[in-house]
Amino acid sequence: MEAKYMPLFISLLVCGLTSCDDGDIREEKEFYIDAGYVVKMDGSLKNIDQWNSKYQIVVAAFSAQDSYPLLAKSIPTTEFIHDFKFEGINPDCESIELCVLNSINKRVATLATLYDKAEDPTLDLNDTIYFNPDNLDAGMFACIQKNIFTKRCAYCHGLGETPAAGLYLTEGNSYKNLVEVDSRKIDTLKRVEPYNAQRSMLYKVLTEYGEDCGWHYNHTNFFYGNTMSNLVKEWINSGAPK
Ligand code: HEC
Repeated sequence: MEAKYMPLFISLLVCGLTSCDDGDIREEKEFYIDAGYVVKMDGSLKNIDQWNSKYQIVVAAFSAQDSYPLLAKSIPTTEFIHDFKFEGINPDCESIELCVLNSINKRVATLATLYDKAEDPTLDLNDTIYFNPDNLDAGMFACIQKNIFTKRCAYCHGLGETPAAGLYLTEGNSYKNLVEVDSRKIDTLKRVEPYNAQRSMLYKVLTEYGEDCGWHYNHTNFFYGNTMSNLVKEWINSGAPK
């Protein structure tokens, strides 16, 4: 007699289970899985207060090649982190990161990789991953340096013999080469004018390029979509904090 209700019951169960895999922020759900990896974090993060409410700093688990986490938990936006614990992390994930998500839960930048399956495939279910950052710079500029300038820009802007446009974007040099410094290309603009992305050459090169603009190099193809240029815009419009 009960048999005819079974398919419905099973499909409800499957729906319920898969919905937690759709990139939702886990914290917002009353959903608890008591098996899986555990992350414990104690330590200090500097400049974390630079982020505005459009961004969230989270510990998140990712499957391969995906910018949206399987699940994530926000960390407190205070300098000192005590007894942060994140349990029940899906053991099918490929990596666990301390990272920044934007308002649609897309990863904007990685601050630290806590676990990478490719490097340690032997982790057991219910194993604990400890992360103890010591004054790790979690600010907006540190993210831009690490995730944009060092990866995509420095090889033309500073790593070779002469930096393109006389602009160094290498670690330790970029801030003083950008903020309140006159642009070489358009001399009425600064490279970065704090609180004004529209009048900052750094934001313009990443978002504007036309046949008649007279620029020798098209910078707008560096990133797919506007996640990264928005990060630069938000940083400048927050006053370009160091
Ligand atoms: C393949 C080499 C190359 C790469 C990579 C590159 N640039 Fe450039 N960049 C140039 C050249 C060449 C110019 C000068 C363009 C011109 O004179 O029209 C320039 C100019 C600029 C300027 C204008 C500077 C000024 O004073 O007016 C900024 C800002 C800039 N780049 C930022 C970046 C950023 C940010 C990245 C990484 C996302 C980047 N560049 C990656 C070659 C590069």
